[in-house]
Amino acid sequence: MDELMAEILVSEDQIQARIKELAAEIAAEYQDKRPLMVCVLKGGMPFMADLVKQMDIILDLDFMDVSSYGDGFESSGEVKIIKDLSEPVKGRHVIFVEDIVDTGRTLTYLYDLLQSRQAASIKTVSLLDKPARRSQDFQADWIGFEIPDKFVVGYGLDYEGALRNYPQIAVLKESVYMDRD
Ligand code: PRP
Repeated sequence: MDELMAEILVSEDQIQARIKELAAEIAAEYQDKRPLMVCVLKGGMPFMADLVKQMDIILDLDFMDVSSYGDGFESSGEVKIIKDLSEPVKGRHVIFVEDIVDTGRTLTYLYDLLQSRQAASIKTVSLLDKPARRSQDFQADWIGFEIPDKFVVGYGLDYEGALRNYPQIAVLKESVYMDRD
C-alpha cells in the first residue's frame, strides 16, 4: 500500500508510543470505575484494540456503528445508527473510542444519545483531531494527534472502505482518487 501514499503524517511508532501515554492517563483516572469502552465502528477498531491492551484496569467493551459519511470525502450531515450498543449504559462510565473527530457531528450525536440513556459519565478519546473541519462545538477529552485538513487514511481511516489496515496515518496520493471512475 506504500505506493498509494503521498506522505506519512503519523508513523506506526509514533502512534504506538502515544497510545501508551493515553492508556496510562485514562487507566489512572478510571482505576475503580470499570469503564465501558465504546468503539465507534468501523474506524475506531484498530485504535480500540491497541488502546485497551495497554490499559491495566478492569473494563468492558462495546461497539456502535454509526454513519455520517457517504462513500467519498464529504459528510452527508446525517448521523444514523447502524449498530447499537448491546448492553444498557445507565449508570456506566462510558468512554467513546474514535479514530477522528472531524466536524464533530458524530460525537455530538452520540453524547446526546447516551446522556438521554443516563450514562454516569461520558468522555471521548480520539486518535486524531482535525479542528479545521469542526462545525459543532465539540472537543474530545483525550487526543492522540492534531492533524491538518488533509484527507488521511490508515489505522482505521478508509478510502471507499479500503486502507483501514494500513498501519500508519497517511495522505493519499491525489492520483489515486482522481483516477477513479
Ligand atoms: C468517521 C470517523 C468518525 C466520524 C467523524 O466515521 O470514524 O466516526 O467520521 O466525523 P465527524 O466528526 O464529521 O462526525 P464514518 O462515518 O466515516 O464511518 P467509518 O468509521 O465506518 O469509516
